[in-house]
Amino acid sequence: MPVSEKDRSDYFDFLRFPTVSADPARDQAMRDCANWLEKKFGEMGLEAEIVATPGAPVVLAKWSKPGGGRRRRVLIYGHYDVQPAEMGDGWTGDPFEPRIMDGMVLARGSTDNKGQIFAHMLGVAEAIREGGAATDVVFVVEGEEEVGSDNLEAVLRARKKELKCDVAVISDTNMAGPDQPTLTYGLRGIAALEVELTGPSHDLHSGVYGGAVVNPIKVLTQLLAGLHDERFRVTVSGFYKKVRKAAAWERKAAKDLGVSDNEVRRQAGSPALAGEPGFTAIERIGMRPTAEINGITGGYQGPGPKTVLPSKASAKLTFRLVPHQDPAEIAGLVERHLRKHCPKTVKIKVTRHHGGLPYFCDPKKDFGPAAARALSQAWDGKKVKYLLEGGTIPIVSVIRKVLGVETLLVGLSLPDCRAHGPDETFPISYLERGAKMNRALLREISEV
Ligand code: BES
Ligand code: ZN
Repeated sequence: MPVSEKDRSDYFDFLRFPTVSADPARDQAMRDCANWLEKKFGEMGLEAEIVATPGAPVVLAKWSKPGGGRRRRVLIYGHYDVQPAEMGDGWTGDPFEPRIMDGMVLARGSTDNKGQIFAHMLGVAEAIREGGAATDVVFVVEGEEEVGSDNLEAVLRARKKELKCDVAVISDTNMAGPDQPTLTYGLRGIAALEVELTGPSHDLHSGVYGGAVVNPIKVLTQLLAGLHDERFRVTVSGFYKKVRKAAAWERKAAKDLGVSDNEVRRQAGSPALAGEPGFTAIERIGMRPTAEINGITGGYQGPGPKTVLPSKASAKLTFRLVPHQDPAEIAGLVERHLRKHCPKTVKIKVTRHHGGLPYFCDPKKDFGPAAARALSQAWDGKKVKYLLEGGTIPIVSVIRKVLGVETLLVGLSLPDCRAHGPDETFPISYLERGAKMNRALLREISEV
């Protein structure tokens, strides 16, 4: 059923909330958006509730068939928080005032994750209007995914009985390409750290002290450069110890995605790619762990020159992990590595941030085949692609641990949608497509 004007304007209203979870100043926007969602779920015929947490509120919304007896129950997860977005990052318009250009909606969160979760909401609303969804459903929509989902585990534990389900469904992953139905069967995990080096106790005149006092920026850049060897392998001792080797069928599935190294290069807008030998770009992204420098700060960065020998230099690091690496263990190994290689000429401080476990679930088991059938139906009979994703959704492994169920990752996000970047986009037609996929999925799950 085509998406109505009302649905489209609701989607735009959803996008207008500047729900940047990383920014404490957006506290009110988080609460306003959660309230808006609660109301929207209510209008759609679900029973909605807001659960307060020490951080952003979580929205729960349930629907069960009246007198339905024992039926399958599906948990649908999404997040209403978004990554930061500023005009200065290269946006061509206000990130929180959605615009349509050539069938694409431009706004922060248009894809990640407001567009995708809203498509599921529309699917369930439509089914309720037409007499009921094929399974019972419970939505969990949180506001802290982009900062590590730290407060959601406690909510899952506290509401474990209410959240009992047969399987979880999440659209927060990429498709292999436009209109290519894709089932993601694994996600990378993450370990995040920050390292700060202090040399002299205060900024010094670089002429008066340079050459005698060690510059912390120099030490930091050497430490960071030393995280990889010349073959792009991470040098942290023990880093690869628990890394799972991908099976032959997974490498074939990666090939069947039909995404060439050059296509990845094109999407990234990069002059040339490089990485671990023996793997294609798409394999490096899905199957291999990494060390990434996300940001580096130190010294004078204002206009013109300044002859200063700075006191401090710091960097933010994340390590993407694959099964069976453990974020806490990797953070420990990295901290040890940094301390070991840091000379006595500077003081080192390492801060550990969020972590998330990697995830893997055999798509040929349990509800995987049902998901594949549903995806294919929604995309007019096209063959489904199987993807190992490079990004992280921390709650997926928590859902497995706390609720004891696997997650079907049926994302609607296009590889070049610019999630986390300027001018993030989502095809407006994917609201309807996603709603259709949602209905097919619940139907297929009900028949397993
Ligand atoms: N939707 C992404 C995760 C993702 C991205 C999955 C691309 C598949 C393909 C999610 O919103 C996200 O960005 N997660 C963060 C989690 C982190 C902050 C713990 C990520 O991966 O950086
Ligand atoms: Zn994201």
